[in-house]
Amino acid sequence: MSEPDYVARNRELWTTTNAEYTGPAAARSWAREELTWGIFGTPEGEVGVLGDVAGLDVVELGCGTAYLSAWLARQGARPVGIDVTPAQLETARALQRETGIEFPLVEANAEEVPLPDATFDLAVSEYGASIWCDPYRWIPESYRLLRSGGRLVFLRGSQLLILCAVEEPDSTSETLQRPQRGMHRIEWSDGGVEFHLGLGELFAVLRESGFVVESLIELYAPEGAKTHEYYSYVTAEWASKWPVEELWVARKPA
Ligand SMILES: C[S@@+](CC[C@H](N)C(=O)[O-])C[C@H]1O[C@@H](n2cnc3c(N)ncnc32)[C@H](O)[C@@H]1O
Repeated sequence: MSEPDYVARNRELWTTTNAEYTGPAAARSWAREELTWGIFGTPEGEVGVLGDVAGLDVVELGCGTAYLSAWLARQGARPVGIDVTPAQLETARALQRETGIEFPLVEANAEEVPLPDATFDLAVSEYGASIWCDPYRWIPESYRLLRSGGRLVFLRGSQLLILCAVEEPDSTSETLQRPQRGMHRIEWSDGGVEFHLGLGELFAVLRESGFVVESLIELYAPEGAKTHEYYSYVTAEWASKWPVEELWVARKPA
């Protein structure tokens, strides 16, 4: 099956990133007892976007090394991880063998998941499909995969973060760097292709796909936070003043 050009480009980027960072770092993420969101680690207990997941069928779209799915499995959910990069899934499989936490992992483009309609109660994406897939494709696909009454929860970099992103040096400015109007596909110089719609457009895609948007939580760095060692393109100081990430919750009507 042919795939969009950006899928191969992002697979290549994530194969390199797996070797350099996410592969070695994954065991630490799998070992974390508390689930946190985003670069500055907002606790799930504080935002409560997932709620009680015990007994739910969950699909993670762009699961990477699948620590979020592993956490969901430990809470009694039945996760299935979808990712397009074999190296990322291999790391996840190695950790499944090490920890005994087993769940299905499917190598696929999250815009075209080879699973039947209405299979899941919850679809999640933490910097997965939420930024690496085209929202005009992955959001309707997540809707198709959900049962009536099911929820979509995803995390992405904030609108303002993307508007202020600088490539050389990799950083975040206090001034706008690009127009918001027409923002959609963004090609970075490392070869990666991301997708970022402005808030109004993203809200419209969700609505037009059939979802009811239930909440949009903007995440900031907490007081006293330090700039992340690896994700240092946004400083704790910047993120203490402006929202660095957005957590969205949408529901497929019952
Ligand atoms: C930031 S990582 C995922 C984060 C994940 N929560 C973790 O920490 O491992 C982004 C993932 O999206 C995956 N990805 C990129 N494009 C994709 C696509 N079209 N379909 C499915 N996965 C994709 C990459 O392979 C990568 O593993």
